[in-house]
Amino acid sequence: QKGAYPYYMLKEIDEQPGVMRNLIKEYIAADGSIKIDQDLLKEMSAADRLYIVAAGTSYHAGLVGKELFEKLVKVPTEVHVASEFGYNTPLLSKKPFFIFLTQSGETADSRQVLAQVNKDGYPSLTITNVMNSTLSREATYTLLLYAGPEIAVASTKAYTGQIALEAILAKALGVHNNVPTIKDFDVAGELTKAANGMQELVDEKSEIEKIAAALLKDTRNAFYIGRAMDYAIVQEAALKLKEVSYIQTEGFASGELKHGTIALIQENTPVIAIITDKRTAAHTRSNAQEVKARGANILYIASREVATPTDQIVLPEITPLLSALVAIVPAQLLAYYASIQRGYDVDKPRNLAKSVTVE
Ligand code: M6R
Repeated sequence: QKGAYPYYMLKEIDEQPGVMRNLIKEYIAADGSIKIDQDLLKEMSAADRLYIVAAGTSYHAGLVGKELFEKLVKVPTEVHVASEFGYNTPLLSKKPFFIFLTQSGETADSRQVLAQVNKDGYPSLTITNVMNSTLSREATYTLLLYAGPEIAVASTKAYTGQIALEAILAKALGVHNNVPTIKDFDVAGELTKAANGMQELVDEKSEIEKIAAALLKDTRNAFYIGRAMDYAIVQEAALKLKEVSYIQTEGFASGELKHGTIALIQENTPVIAIITDKRTAAHTRSNAQEVKARGANILYIASREVATPTDQIVLPEITPLLSALVAIVPAQLLAYYASIQRGYDVDKPRNLAKSVTVE
């Protein structure tokens, strides 16, 4: 039930702090230990490489997962678009372990990869929001998101839930593998910060509504730019905006713009820079200035630590590894408002279905 909300998408954006708290409750004990099946951790730790397979928003959550598993657990991780995997199959390592990220657990593209993985006898985990879904039943292990039903076609709380659960899993695997630096990663503390930060952002949604009206009202196209982790985030931000507002939006590696795509920048093209990483902040800002000089309208979404006084949206503090959890919230809200300001049914964008059960 959407209750007082005009649309499910807004309700689901607002539910994200609660999703973080549910995941803490379900997976993290009071003493900080993680409640995840030891057999799963044993199989993951025996693997020499993780392969994350997913589609759409879940693929974007996988891009963040790669950073978490590589930086926190030091295990090489690849992320693959499910629909490409079967034809463009990478050369697999000797001991692969597969992780399927899927809100619905029914995505046909991911199912066909899992069928092959099972045929080849490799172990697998499905991270899903739907208990007993097909991908859950067919994988060796399942971890649930406990996010509550996601009704809007545009995925929001499943994305942040998937990232949070990947962080919990990375912590558990790091502890299991005795990675010395894993003790510095306080996953419960960081997810609590994420919940509080998300709450701050959703409480200020009227500001974002105004920004959407000013920046996105009549435009036909838009860009999100970022580097490193922020590049992973902008790909999801762009998908959100395009699928519900029909504004053609690209999520671009900001350093790559000048190699061709900058030709698309015209007077008033909206360019939204997401900056959460101090290593890349100066470079992304200079890329934003390059497009500003060609007429673009720039919106900066920056973490408090790297923000300047003129940045329009400042994000609450969180470890840079989990910056997606807060940075995506204003992007989801911008997409939501851009869609309703254009008079669309934001919960049911044209041509799209909630779960895509054909290849
Ligand atoms: O249920 P899944 O997570 O497997 O779905 C994958 C994509 O179809 C889904 O994320 C899609 O991209 C959404 N429309 C994104 O908002």
